[in-house]
Amino acid sequence: MKAPPPGARAAPATARNRGPILEALRRRLPGSGVVLEIAAGTGEHAAFIAAALPHLEWRPTDPDPGALISIAAWREDAALPNLLPPLALDASDPDAWPVERADAVVAINMIHIAPWEAARGLMTGAGRVLPPGGLLFLYGPFIEAGVETAPSNLAFDLSLKSRDPAWGVRRLEDVARLAARRGLGLAERIALPANNLGLFFRKA
Ligand SMILES: C[S@@+](CC[C@H](N)C(=O)[O-])C[C@H]1O[C@@H](n2cnc3c(N)ncnc32)[C@H](O)[C@@H]1O
Repeated sequence: MKAPPPGARAAPATARNRGPILEALRRRLPGSGVVLEIAAGTGEHAAFIAAALPHLEWRPTDPDPGALISIAAWREDAALPNLLPPLALDASDPDAWPVERADAVVAINMIHIAPWEAARGLMTGAGRVLPPGGLLFLYGPFIEAGVETAPSNLAFDLSLKSRDPAWGVRRLEDVARLAARRGLGLAERIALPANNLGLFFRKA
C-alpha cells in the first residue's frame, strides 16, 4: 500500500481487508449509480474501491471531523472523477442524513464500534434512501447462533466493551431482525478473512 498523503490517516487492517471486500462488492453492486459509504474512516476503502469500480459514484461519509479531513486527503491524492467529496453523516440520526437517495449503502467496521443506536439509524436511513431491490452491505465480525465464535472475536468483543460498554460485536440475528423491521431482508452472508462476515441486505 502506498504511504498516506499529507493529512491522511491509515488503518493497518485496510491493507488486509480491502481486496476481499472489493471482490465481494464487485459482483453484487449495481452496474451504475451512487454508493453511499457510512463510517468511511480514513477514506482508504473509498479511494481503493472507487478506483476499481469506475462505473459507480462513491460517496464517503463519517461523523468525525478528523476522518473527513483524512478522506478528503485520500480523495485529492486519488483524483478520481467518481469519488465524491466526503459528507458529515451520523448514522444514528437518519433524519439528518445529507443524502436523499443512494443505489447501494456500504458500512465497513461500524456497527460494533458504535452504540446500537447507530445500527438502528443505519437500518432506518438505508431503508429510506435505497430503491426497491437496493443493497446494504455490512462488513465486520458477528456472533452467529450455532456457530462457534472465534476466540479472536470474543477477545475483540471484550476489548470493545472495555473501551465503551455500548460497543460490542453484534449478534447476526439481532442485526437481521432490526434490518427486517426496516424492510431490508438478509439476502446473503459470506465468510471473509480473519473471521469477518460480509452481509448483504436487499430492500424489498
Ligand atoms: C473502526 S472505524 C472503521 C472505518 C473504516 N470503515 C474502516 O474499516 O477502516 C469506525 C468508524 O465508524 C465511525 N462512526 C462511529 N460512530 C458512527 C456513527 N454513529 N455513524 C457513522 N459512523 C460512525 C467512526 O467515526 C469511524 O470512522
